[in-house]
Amino acid sequence: MSDLLANSPVIPVVAIEDSDNAVGLCEALQEGGINAIEVTLRTSDAIKAIKQIKKHCPNMILGVGTVLTPDDVSRSEDEGADFLVSPGLSPKLQKALQSTNLLVLPGTATPSEALTAYEAGFDKVKLFPAGAVGGAALIKSVYAPMPNISYMPTGGVRLANMNDYLSLPNVYAVGGTWIASTALINARDWKTIQGNARDAMDMSKKC
Ligand code: 3PG
Repeated sequence: MSDLLANSPVIPVVAIEDSDNAVGLCEALQEGGINAIEVTLRTSDAIKAIKQIKKHCPNMILGVGTVLTPDDVSRSEDEGADFLVSPGLSPKLQKALQSTNLLVLPGTATPSEALTAYEAGFDKVKLFPAGAVGGAALIKSVYAPMPNISYMPTGGVRLANMNDYLSLPNVYAVGGTWIASTALINARDWKTIQGNARDAMDMSKKC
């Protein structure tokens, strides 16, 4: 399970407003070399989009993001998610996330929150909102005291700064909306999304 994202250093975070765009989006990302996606539960079409991806893009590692409630956890499991991402942890959500066998990447913003997640069984976490809470400097600082916790920063990550994060030993991936923004998806601009994916993968190889 922990190897699920071993070859996926860049995770596009997407809000799909029209599920008819889900397959084209995944194809563009895969043509650009990216084989994992985080579909956020922020749109009314999110579950329909997840169903489309499961059905038509079997090689895409499918994450469900913006998981906020126990109901979100069970809906995501039912739809066949490969991994779950939350922006933070609450007692109720933590309990639900502990009950799933899926890879779980809970959101944390501070060392105490990361330790709490680690104690709950999660050694891979998301740093959110990464840019606002300290960015790469924060993740670098916590490596010495907490080397067993590794991070996926999201929030403010772009092509220009992604390797500030990926070059750190305690970062397993970066996530963000810059590769496939909602505007690009709605415009069905697969060419730009494919190019953004390719640029990100090429950049990640420079680490
Ligand atoms: C997230 O949803 O995880 C972040 O808000 C993504 O942030 P970004 O839009 O700065 O990439």
